Amino acid sequence: MTQDEMKEEVAKAALAYVIEGSIVGVGTGSTANKFIDALATIKDKIKGTVASSEVTAERLRGHGIPVFELNDALSQVNKLSVYIDGADEFDPQKNLTKGGGGALTREKIVAAGSEKFVCIVDESKQVDFLGAFPLPIEVIPMAETLVMSIANNLGGKAQVREGFTTDNGNIIIDVTGLTIKNARQLEDDLNEVPGIVTNGIFSHQGADVILMATPTGVVTFD
Ligand code: A5P
Repeated sequence: MTQDEMKEEVAKAALAYVIEGSIVGVGTGSTANKFIDALATIKDKIKGTVASSEVTAERLRGHGIPVFELNDALSQVNKLSVYIDGADEFDPQKNLTKGGGGALTREKIVAAGSEKFVCIVDESKQVDFLGAFPLPIEVIPMAETLVMSIANNLGGKAQVREGFTTDNGNIIIDVTGLTIKNARQLEDDLNEVPGIVTNGIFSHQGADVILMATPTGVVTFD
């Protein structure tokens, strides 16, 4: 089974977490795209979606799936029923690294506005410690130099993502070469830095359920 086929399988498995008549939070990335395509097959059963990026909103609309602004959705319901998204890495505590596609801020917001976060991955994303995948940090442009020096002091190497601007008009700094032994602490520490909008560690907004595709089937961690 190819990686692409595994992504399709796990995306289809996530349909079991979609609650009829509800508004569903939808993530960003190649695995989330497979979920959008799967969701299109049951689009008449849901009220609509909230997208974590412009590109996701466009794909959803392309399938004729209604897309609400999060503010509008949360004026109708207390929380979205479920948020379904991929990840760049996950550890045994279901902490995640996200933001390889640069949508981490909206992803964290939509995840926080949802009852449950179902994370869909293939087995290549499973790690003992986060950090092998570069940690993305969304930064307000005027704080670039400040955050670069702080990020370089984390023990890895920081680099501005060239030619990339987030949906919020900010830059991304990627930090490579980290071994993150305390994901919660590092997420908190980075949250304290002025100019950092969001960091790609999802520990506070970690997954409630991880569905992991393998060549022999989908494994559930909950
Ligand atoms: C987007 O900003 C990311 O958080 C993605 O969810 C993550 O990078 C996973 O993407 P893939 O499914 O393409 O690996």
